[in-house]
Amino acid sequence: GDAWKLKDHPKLPKGKTVAVIVLDGWGEAKPNEYNAIAVADTPVMDSLKEGAPEKWRLIKAHGNAVGLPTEDDMGNSEVGHNALGAGRIFAQGAKLVDLALASGKIYEGEGFKYVKECFEKGTLHLIGLLSDGGVHSRLDQVQLLLKGAAEHGAKRIRVHALTDGRDVLDGSSVGFMETLEKDLAKLREQGVDARVASGGGRMYVTMDRYENDWDVVKRGWDAQVLGEAPHKFKDPVEAIKKLRQEPNTSDQYLAPFVIVDDNGKSVGPILDGDAVVTFNFRADRMVMLAKALEYADFDKFDRVRVPKIHYAGMLQYDGELKLPNKYLVSPPEIDRTSGEYLVRNGVRTFACSETVKFGHVTFFWNGNRSGYFDKKLEEYVEIPSDSGITFNVKPKMKALEIAEKTRDAILSGKFDQVRVNIPNGDMVGHTGDIKATIEACKAADLGVKMILEAIEQVGGIYVVTADHGNAEDMVKRNKKGEPALDKNGNIQILTSHTCEPVPIAIGGPGLAPGVRFRKDLPTGGLANVAATFMNLHGYEAPSDYEPSLIEILPQIFILGSI
Ligand code: 3PG
Ligand code: CO
Repeated sequence: GDAWKLKDHPKLPKGKTVAVIVLDGWGEAKPNEYNAIAVADTPVMDSLKEGAPEKWRLIKAHGNAVGLPTEDDMGNSEVGHNALGAGRIFAQGAKLVDLALASGKIYEGEGFKYVKECFEKGTLHLIGLLSDGGVHSRLDQVQLLLKGAAEHGAKRIRVHALTDGRDVLDGSSVGFMETLEKDLAKLREQGVDARVASGGGRMYVTMDRYENDWDVVKRGWDAQVLGEAPHKFKDPVEAIKKLRQEPNTSDQYLAPFVIVDDNGKSVGPILDGDAVVTFNFRADRMVMLAKALEYADFDKFDRVRVPKIHYAGMLQYDGELKLPNKYLVSPPEIDRTSGEYLVRNGVRTFACSETVKFGHVTFFWNGNRSGYFDKKLEEYVEIPSDSGITFNVKPKMKALEIAEKTRDAILSGKFDQVRVNIPNGDMVGHTGDIKATIEACKAADLGVKMILEAIEQVGGIYVVTADHGNAEDMVKRNKKGEPALDKNGNIQILTSHTCEPVPIAIGGPGLAPGVRFRKDLPTGGLANVAATFMNLHGYEAPSDYEPSLIEILPQIFILGSI
């Protein structure tokens, strides 16, 4: 209807092809040996930077600028793409859960009441990422939830913990498990039978995303639901310490284990009549498990036994699929996204990435919504990712394939907006392999080159930016900003994202003369980007969107020279 109609931009024309390129995990930091982007050969991104300050600038991609609880929260792809696509800042899952726990409202909602129905006879299982990274979950929230559940009548609790090492330092899972164990011991003193039941590394157990590799979820299912795993331990801290000694492993890739009693029997399989809460607030890596727990019809792997449970997510992970049906905290309501506006105004849209980031430029971009707004006007292309490898082995990933598909989409003339995520800086950065990350950045730059060449050919416009930092800093730093050393005097590799700002560049032959970045938005962030590209499509952004980053200088024609 009319509510979707965007006003014409008073000065900028319609009909230009606009490429919106998001480099995943590409922040801006001082050049040094741990800045993989600076070390890498990235001529295209370097040349864009020369356009500063009119055609290149930095924008905020962390903390409050993307709806996270504090300024110490690093950015991530979920909140980053939400902000890029929605053009406004929404309080995100991390913050909404904090508020619900602080007010106690979490225990009054339908979701908690539903799981509570099992407390009398069954066990409460908590499954999720044991970490204080604040990207998918937070340990302090789990601690509060454990305490609250016990206060609200849970008598038997089992925790199924996934170890991190990706949003936090590798090796930190030992400390997190020790903290959890202390809390569970306290609960036991109070008469609650509370224990860890299983575990495993997040990238190998449970937390796959976008259906890249269902075996990951199956390994988790076997340990969590069936109580079966290749490794059996009596003590979870011991389990992590031992399994970390296996060759080629890390917190991220720890093998699955179950905790067993003196008879070697698993202490916490999920049984009929039990309650289950997946305590991650972030959706992408919980959706697959949620499907396995909730769907009656399910053919992704053999579940062997499907317990009759009351299951709730910390949040609802997919509003469109209503998955899971029950949840403890309502997710942010990200409505009226730029994608929906543009499509409803006839802007033909193409979006593309490889599997591991495909949902970022579609689902997250569109406000955590699956599917098309208008199939006739949109095409979303997913390039299959390599699966079963860590991306330092193939740091080029599918950057060129993504760029080729995007180039073809641009040259086809069938689209007004082409939107892409180039994942290399982030996915390889998370492996902590600096050499491979340098290769990754070079590949990403080549991908950008190919897309910009196509934009050049069709007289289009480009917007190149990133969702958060990662590859620009590969070492943990102390307060002075120097590399932090561990007790053996070795540097500590940073696998996580950063709080650095990200670049944004505009250009292309279709960019109207006089368009440049304004100077009066020095604290602009990712949420300002949507209004910016809406302008470049020839529209004014809705009035409640964060302001556009660009202005148009009046063109002065000197009559005498004609
Ligand atoms: C992951 O899920 O891979 C990391 O925790 C965060 O990375 P992303 O926010 O870039 O997806
Ligand atoms: Co990342």
